[in-house]
Amino acid sequence: METSSSTSITSGKFEQREEKRRSLFSRTWREFIPKVFEDVPQYYRSGNIVASLGLWELWVWQFVRTIDLRPGYQALDVCAGTNDVGIRLLQKQADISVTAIDRSKEMQEEGQHRAAKYHVKIKSVIQDVHTLPFPDNSFDVITLQAASRHLQLDRVLPEILRVLKPGGHFYHCDMLKPSTRIVEWFYLRFLRVSVALTALVFGSTEASRSCGEYFKDAIENFYTPEELSEVFRLIGFANVRCRKSIWGGMVGFHNSQKSG
Ligand SMILES: C[S@@+](CC[C@H](N)C(=O)[O-])C[C@H]1O[C@@H](n2cnc3c(N)ncnc32)[C@H](O)[C@@H]1O
Repeated sequence: METSSSTSITSGKFEQREEKRRSLFSRTWREFIPKVFEDVPQYYRSGNIVASLGLWELWVWQFVRTIDLRPGYQALDVCAGTNDVGIRLLQKQADISVTAIDRSKEMQEEGQHRAAKYHVKIKSVIQDVHTLPFPDNSFDVITLQAASRHLQLDRVLPEILRVLKPGGHFYHCDMLKPSTRIVEWFYLRFLRVSVALTALVFGSTEASRSCGEYFKDAIENFYTPEELSEVFRLIGFANVRCRKSIWGGMVGFHNSQKSG
């Protein structure tokens, strides 16, 4: 468990890193990622389970387990995809309201089918998340799972902080850049192969089959768990805590708060 950090991400370094990520991936994020998520909704969940050798379920379970929910809470799931997180939040605490936001109509359509299947209601907003269409201080809990690698963090994190209520919690989890070189080496090679093979097995389109290389590059240029803690602090989140999981920080779980 990492609760404080001695990493050297300053605001200047954060700006540089975000500029670098933008210069490398802007086109992919704009043109390629939407095509991938048009293609995958029906097999998204089973594809994740196969590509992660079954660890996906453990990951999502671990993530939702840490989320504190009280009756009446307003929750927002950012980049909600097929509503995997939102459904589990409502299964954990039925007396909350969940809003999902994602720019993929196809992922959210599948998410609405899944919500109906599990007899829960989730409001759906189809929009790019770099600007959030909600007033300041709207949500008690905000979640973001498995998507921040595809986002401009210097734009989306201030928006999340803005719409979070004072005292509200932001829960984040994603595949991160491992803190150890040797783990990173194996992990990036495994990712490239597993993503491409999974797309092939599930018979998807060219966009999905070719995304293994991008997935590898996105993580290589992303943040370690410790660096991401520092990024959250730079943006203004308080009480930032991080738990690394699964082989030396390949997946990191962050919990932070808006002061208030
Ligand atoms: C890997 S999926 C994760 C879905 C969900 N959070 C989960 O854990 O199952 C990434 C999602 O992020 C969405 N996404 C990526 N970039 C986005 C953006 N700029 N604005 C809104 N959604 C975005 C994609 O459409 C996709 O549904």
